[in-house]
Amino acid sequence: MNVIASAPEGLEKYLANEIFELGGFNINTYKRSVSFECDYATFYRIHFFSRVAFRFYREVSRFHCHDRLSLYQGVRDSFDWLKWLPSQKTFNVQVTGRTSLLSHSHFTALEVKNSITDLQKSAWNKRSNISLDNPDYIIHLHLNNDQAVLSLQSSFASLHKRGYRPAIGNAPLKENLASGLLKITEWNGNKPLIDLMCGSGTFLIEAINQVLKVPLKSQKFYLFENWLDFKKDIFLDEKKKAIDRVICFDKLSKIIGCEINENVFDQARVNISLAGLENYIELQNNDFTKIQFESAKGLVLCNPPYGKKLGDENQLINLYENMGEFLKKKFSGWEFWLLSGNPRLTRYLKMKASLKIPVSNGGVDCRWIKYLIR
Ligand SMILES: C[S@@+](CC[C@H](N)C(=O)[O-])C[C@H]1O[C@@H](n2cnc3c(N)ncnc32)[C@H](O)[C@@H]1O
Repeated sequence: MNVIASAPEGLEKYLANEIFELGGFNINTYKRSVSFECDYATFYRIHFFSRVAFRFYREVSRFHCHDRLSLYQGVRDSFDWLKWLPSQKTFNVQVTGRTSLLSHSHFTALEVKNSITDLQKSAWNKRSNISLDNPDYIIHLHLNNDQAVLSLQSSFASLHKRGYRPAIGNAPLKENLASGLLKITEWNGNKPLIDLMCGSGTFLIEAINQVLKVPLKSQKFYLFENWLDFKKDIFLDEKKKAIDRVICFDKLSKIIGCEINENVFDQARVNISLAGLENYIELQNNDFTKIQFESAKGLVLCNPPYGKKLGDENQLINLYENMGEFLKKKFSGWEFWLLSGNPRLTRYLKMKASLKIPVSNGGVDCRWIKYLIR
């Protein structure tokens, strides 16, 4: 199969690496996406083990397309819809990108829909219904440089929704972004990890699940189960291997999260217990300057308020100053990783960065910054 995976901006190469480790090949990275080839088993496996991808799209055709007619004909002729999409199955169409003459994604999607349903009507005098909430197929069209790529989306829900986080605190990180950021730190579980402002606990949960390769919870149903060439036996085999994987928590080092807000702290507790990790994460409901820890040197991380979504910027200057002083006093010799969404505030740490990686957090241009605390 030819597959495209979508990724948080800045983490494409980490997703590419993950796909390689899971069995993908001929891997190429682009802005916010990774293309690769794989066999059926790998395709199903990545839905259980990819921690960085949002979604997967299986490419079914590509054709030259610059205007309405070339789109209509290209969609109709480039894929065997009559075999793959019986009229009782529902679908919807998603569009990304544009050409100079196809610049309205809503109009473009309608044209794709018309092309497919006209074909069905001419063959059977019946056509598929459109469903936005519960489709059997999601057909994805990407336009770029007068080239159209048609794909089938493999799951309705994004894979970043892990199912352990009904309670989402203030300005939570997407789970796959947190996971990708942790990959960058190369934390491997054998030294302590402390999140100074853990919010709903995303970093803490993703850190453990990633290092121990805990599979993602299987979705009730994947769209690929509707595809003509769905290999149920291979899928069930991969699912069983994921479920039966023995997880060994023994060698995990100390993992601590601190959160000042009592409600958010309670939410973190709920999330961590839903993820089944309450025995491996210590939570403290406190200001980070009061954090209690006694351990070997390790890694401290933090996703503080930026002054955009939470808290006014000027009120946060103190918070950043305190954090810098506190880290230098208590965590000398540790590594510190900060998700900075506001360079003006970050300066108040008065610390020298050793690495800065650009990433996007929900559209906010951020830097994932590494400091070696002296
Ligand atoms: C941007 S949120 C962190 C979100 C978190 N990464 C998640 O995924 O849910 C920042 C968190 O820092 C907490 N916070 C603010 N000041 C703090 C302090 N002095 N000590 C500890 N936590 C604090 C806030 O209550 C908020 O939950």
